[in-house]
Parts: sequence; structure tokens; C-alpha cells
Amino acid sequence: MLLSKSHKMTSGYDFGYQWTFTHIHLIPFVLFGAITAAGIRWRWRRWITALAAMAALWGLCGFAITQLVFVPNSPMPLPTGRFLASGAGRVADLGAGSGRASLMVLLTRPKSTVVGLDRFAQNYGIVGNSPARFLANMKVAGVQDRAEVQTGDMREMPFPEDSFDAAVSSFAIDHLSREGEKQALAETSRILKPGGEFLLMVINRDIWVRIAYPFLHGHGYFGMMPARQRWIGLVEAAGFDMVEDGTIPGTLYILARAK
Ligand SMILES: C[S@@+](CC[C@H](N)C(=O)[O-])C[C@H]1O[C@@H](n2cnc3c(N)ncnc32)[C@H](O)[C@@H]1O
Repeated sequence: MLLSKSHKMTSGYDFGYQWTFTHIHLIPFVLFGAITAAGIRWRWRRWITALAAMAALWGLCGFAITQLVFVPNSPMPLPTGRFLASGAGRVADLGAGSGRASLMVLLTRPKSTVVGLDRFAQNYGIVGNSPARFLANMKVAGVQDRAEVQTGDMREMPFPEDSFDAAVSSFAIDHLSREGEKQALAETSRILKPGGEFLLMVINRDIWVRIAYPFLHGHGYFGMMPARQRWIGLVEAAGFDMVEDGTIPGTLYILARAK
């Protein structure tokens, strides 16, 4: 994961992810922890105390995974060094939100510029999702001179064709309907120059996600086809050649090149 520790540790970011994502596990931890303590103190039946202890432990694990593995209040780690290896280029961040993926690019690719595109219409887990918050995070990282934000829909992007060297999209296209996914991928292909790189990042229901969010639904996981196969098929059908795919905790990534 190619994000230096100093960038990751930069304080002052506000990515706005709501507590139901970042801190919800503390509720079962505290509640079932108290029940466990009471069970031990007053010698309740062992199975009751054991069940409560397991639920409390799950809360603790979920919280630890969220804070230490997913680290929602930090720029995203770049999952592959092959993305924009030249270090330069004009990049679109599709569904940029509060800017975690834009910072991933700007901090690891020092000669790049980023345009963050987002509808900013619903919060999608980011409380008060707005262009102002995106720009404030760019400022915290000291990269505001290389970042712009634009309000618009990635299913109908407000950009001319062949206008970007690369595009990234993290946990955004997998929020769209089946038709919306195809539209957004076709639009990505349209705005990229021939040979332009596309790094798609979607939720991967791996062991980390299954432990921390066992009830997660949506994110393109309906249906029987394995997610990796489905996303690769969609990306190829939109006019890309595959370069690489892989996973980092909680994330499936696909690196592709526009034809
Ligand atoms: C879960 S957030 C991810 C934000 C950011 N990429 C990140 O990884 O932190 C999903 C983002 O996609 C945006 N979004 C959803 N549908 C969109 C659309 N049709 N066009 C543009 N942005 C969209 C939402 O506004 C939201 O900011």
C-alpha cells in the first residue's frame, strides 16, 4: 500500500464518515461487555455470560478493524504502484466525496492534478458531503493547487471526450444501479484519452468486511456471479483492456487501460 506513513498520519482531515460506520461497534462492545461483567459478578448461567462475551468481543474486533485496517479518516492507500507510474497526468476522481481517493493520487503522484467529480446530492455515509469539505481536505494536505472539484453526475459527465490521462473511482460506482454502473463506466471510457488508465476500487466482501459488517448489503453484491468476475466483465465491456486486479483489506481493485 503506497501511502507513506507521514501522509497517513496527517491530522486535521475531516472525511465526514458517519458514526454508524466508524463507531457503531462500540455499542455492542459496551452493552454486552456490561452484561458479561454482570454475568460474572452475579454468577449467571455460563452460556448467557459466554454469549454476551462473544458479542462484546465481536464489537471490539469490529471497532479495531474499522479504526486500524479501514482507517476511514485518512487518505486512501494506493493499491498498486502501476497506476500512473510516470507520476504525472490529469486525473478524474469519480464520486470523489470528501476526497480520500483524490488525496491518494495527489500525495503519491506529485506531478498529477485531480478533478473531483461528485453529485453531492445525498450523503452516502458522508455527513454534509460537499465541495467545501473536499477542498478543505486538499488544503490540509497542502495540495489545493493541484485539485479542483466539480459538481456533476458520473453517469453523464460534464467533461469533453479524451480530456483525462487517468481516472480513479473508490466505493462510488458500486453504489449505482446496474444500468448506472454501465453508464458510468462508458462515460469513464469516453473522457479518457486512448491508453488512459482507470483504477476502480469497490467494496470487497473479504474476511475484514465480513467480520466488521456482516449485514452489509448492496455494493454490487446481489446475484450469483463472483464480484471480481462481474466487475472485470463490466470494465472490459465498457472499452478497457485489463492491466491488473487485486485486493487490499476491504477493497477489490481493477486497473485497466482505455482502448
Ligand atoms: C461512499 S462515497 C465514496 C466517496 C469517496 N470516493 C471515498 O472513497 O471516500 C460515494 C460517493 O459517490 C457519490 N456519487 C453517488 N452517485 C453518484 C453519481 N451518479 N455521480 C457522481 N457522484 C456520485 C456520492 O455523492 C458519494 O460522495
